[in-house]
Amino acid sequence: RSDEAIALEGACEASLACSTCHVILDQETFDRLDEPSEDEEDMLDLATCLTSTSRLGCQIILSKELEGMEVTLPAYSKNFYVRPCNFCPKPHTNC
Ligand code: FES
Repeated sequence: RSDEAIALEGACEASLACSTCHVILDQETFDRLDEPSEDEEDMLDLATCLTSTSRLGCQIILSKELEGMEVTLPAYSKNFYVRPCNFCPKPHTNC
């Protein structure tokens, strides 16, 4: 639903050091965006459930043109930050 917030984690706070903000876009939206940077592509390579229209959500700058875009969250995400140090940022509650 368009009026609902998405609980998307960004463990590295948009510093391109994780892939927890991995999203899957519809083809039309994907084609509208600028090409991902090499750093973004490197992080996407580490994402689970990667698709041809995957992007890192923190690198997408929202604009009026993107209104109505469809975003799908992958079934799994990989978070190097949570597991090794037992730090549990929201929304993780069971680690
Ligand atoms: Fe880490 Fe987007 S929040 S790359």
